[in-house]
Amino acid sequence: MTNIFAVILAAGQGTRMKSKLYKVLHPVCGKPMVEHVVDNIQTLDVNRIVTIVGHGAEKVKEQLGEKSEYVLQAEQLGTAHAVKQAETILGELEGTTLVVCGDTPLIRTETFKALFEHHQAQNAKATILTAVADNPTGYGRIIRGNNGQVEQIVEQKDASPEQQLVTEINTGTYCFDNKALFDALKLVKNENAQGEYYLPDVIEIMQKQGEIVSAYQCEDFEETLGVNDRVALSQAESIMRNRINEKHMRNGVTIVNPLTTHISVNAIIGRDTVIQPGTIIEGNSIIGEDCVIGPNSHIVNCQIGDRSTVQNSVATNSIVGEDTSVGPFAHLRPDAQLGNNVKIGNFVEVKKSTLGNHSKVSHLSYIGDAEVGSNVNIGCGSITVNYDGKNKFKTVIEDNVFVGCNSNLVAPVKIGAGSFIAAGSTITKEVPEDALAIARARQENKLDYAKKLK
Ligand code: UD1
Ligand code: CA
Repeated sequence: MTNIFAVILAAGQGTRMKSKLYKVLHPVCGKPMVEHVVDNIQTLDVNRIVTIVGHGAEKVKEQLGEKSEYVLQAEQLGTAHAVKQAETILGELEGTTLVVCGDTPLIRTETFKALFEHHQAQNAKATILTAVADNPTGYGRIIRGNNGQVEQIVEQKDASPEQQLVTEINTGTYCFDNKALFDALKLVKNENAQGEYYLPDVIEIMQKQGEIVSAYQCEDFEETLGVNDRVALSQAESIMRNRINEKHMRNGVTIVNPLTTHISVNAIIGRDTVIQPGTIIEGNSIIGEDCVIGPNSHIVNCQIGDRSTVQNSVATNSIVGEDTSVGPFAHLRPDAQLGNNVKIGNFVEVKKSTLGNHSKVSHLSYIGDAEVGSNVNIGCGSITVNYDGKNKFKTVIEDNVFVGCNSNLVAPVKIGAGSFIAAGSTITKEVPEDALAIARARQENKLDYAKKLK
């Protein structure tokens, strides 16, 4: 088996993005562009992945971590110069090297594989992944000779009006014989419109040396989209979004309106779950079967059990059990953990709290830093008073407790199992098991007094 190496170009600033964030770190469906590239390359089973970093080097390394090795391109003198930096790691090795730009996040593993196989079959020293664009503006053009053989790649800024009419473009992805690549890189000059060392010049160099230079055309231009500005970023997002939504629909998830449904690449959704319009599912969320999510729900890194519903609600880093209903208009903040058959109703906020099976918080309540048992009913407008302005305190509500409406449970406090809190109470002391706690002013009726006020 041939050794396969990959070089990912990720050192540019991305000036056209007009952003504080380095270009290759801009997310597409929740994952930075460069990470899409690295992940797709990784599934190819390559021997080594080397990412060229420069602008935002530390941030890029932090994002990709162990997935790659890194080489610094201290000054961004062009894509050929960028690849050359990998010589210290790859220069002496025999094998085939894939070079991919960090700003083409949509290229699929299958396409890299097909390119590699074509390259092998042609016994080529270099193979370019090309595509045909309706509007090729901005891309390098593939210039072919009379026999159809690739002769050179001309950048937009260097192309003659005639060359600009060519619609076959360089996707920025190539397969090279590793040694031939580093030899040819030594000959690249920067005499062009941008004064940069262009990687595509390697093609002309090899061609003139009489080496086999081939091209593999990707059928779908969309897949090879290069993201240089925010317009292209939104196009990439929409293409990726469609891909993800289609995958889920083919797996048995109903997506009522894919145009308004945003699901991250890593999310997992069970069969017969229905995603209603206006829903965003981010991060590593895992949603069970037969759920109804949305309309208009925003779910970030949550686990949601089978047959649960989350309607018009926001949930972050939380766990929702089975047969549980959340919303409309509920907010699960980080570390909310709901059991099975739980109900979290409208205008309820839950933070860093656990709720046992069959417990209900149906309306207008705040549950924070609490441990709530099973079969607990928390009446409308009840609040765990968890914060004194400096520190947070815990509320423990044991099984089978009934908390009457508009109660304040001033933490730290424990409400014993089976107890009953009278409506309107402000509880500051532990309530023993099975007790009735009333902590409110007694009602006094002054007969006929109202008439005097009129
Ligand atoms: C490049 C190609 C062009 C191709 C297009 C496909 C060159 C000269 N042009 O153009 O033929 O059609 O991609 O999308 O290669 N980078 C570095 N160091 C540098 C310069 C760039 O690491 O010194 C990285 C960038 O971070 C980026 C990638 O290389 O990820 C491509 O650079 P970019 O400036 O976007 O090239 P394009 O103008 O898009
Ligand atoms: Ca680009």
